[in-house]
Amino acid sequence: MLEIENLKVVAEGKEILKGVNLKIKEGEVHAIFGPNGSGKSTLLAAIMGLPSYKITEGRIIFRGKDITGLPVWERAKLGIGLAFQSPPEVSVRLDKLLERIKKGEIEKYVDALNMRNYLERNINAGFSGGERKRGEILQLAAQKPDLMLLDEPESGVDMENIYVISKVINELLEKEKRIKERKKAAIVITHTGYILDFVSASIAHIMMDGKIVCSGPPADVMRNIKKNGYEKCVECMEVEE
Ligand SMILES: Nc1ncnc2c1ncn2[C@@H]1O[C@H](COP(=O)(O)OP(=O)(O)O)[C@@H](O)[C@H]1O
Ligand SMILES: [Mg+2]
Repeated sequence: MLEIENLKVVAEGKEILKGVNLKIKEGEVHAIFGPNGSGKSTLLAAIMGLPSYKITEGRIIFRGKDITGLPVWERAKLGIGLAFQSPPEVSVRLDKLLERIKKGEIEKYVDALNMRNYLERNINAGFSGGERKRGEILQLAAQKPDLMLLDEPESGVDMENIYVISKVINELLEKEKRIKERKKAAIVITHTGYILDFVSASIAHIMMDGKIVCSGPPADVMRNIKKNGYEKCVECMEVEE
């Protein structure tokens, strides 16, 4: 579904991604761990095509099509959707936006995500952290993307609502189907890995200083981070180089 080759990205004149390679198949969920500032959000921004991130080298192929130079709205139309780490306020009513992007069935998700009381408000205006995150997932539910980019979906969300958003994410990922029949995929950035208790991941990666330095089964990767911290990853990188 997605193939990223040697991706290098610059923002504000600074190189942030320094050669990322990643392949995602239909039905897969990839988790990304990594210290603050390592470039995780930048990777999602580059896949989505957010304008302040300049791709200087490498390619992004989505379903066989080179999307490296496409604007964000074309990528959205092709089926890529992003839930922001820190969703901004937008001077548009939430229900008006949902009406415009509506592809999927939205009513049941409004209730599932407890967002009924927020529809007539401007997007994220005065929303708490958790409400913003639920609003992001609701917007994704309306868009029904084939590839979901979830940037720390559980951060700032209370336990009960982590369960609520996970349930919706699983539905959007067609987790009820057998893995071979699933046509959706996701990248999930997480610090705690807590969301992976509810949304199971196929593989986990560690990003350090603009590169994916390690990949493996999510449980093993998490155990390693907890035991050794990210410093060991640096040593490991030094051995490789
Ligand atoms: N739009 C931007 N302009 C300038 N610098 C940026 C921008 N976005 C990210 N950065 C910088 O790039 C680095 C990686 O950021 P980010 O991708 O948000 O990391 P992470 O999500 O892993 O915490 C940080 O040093 C951050 O300050
Ligand atoms: Mg981030």
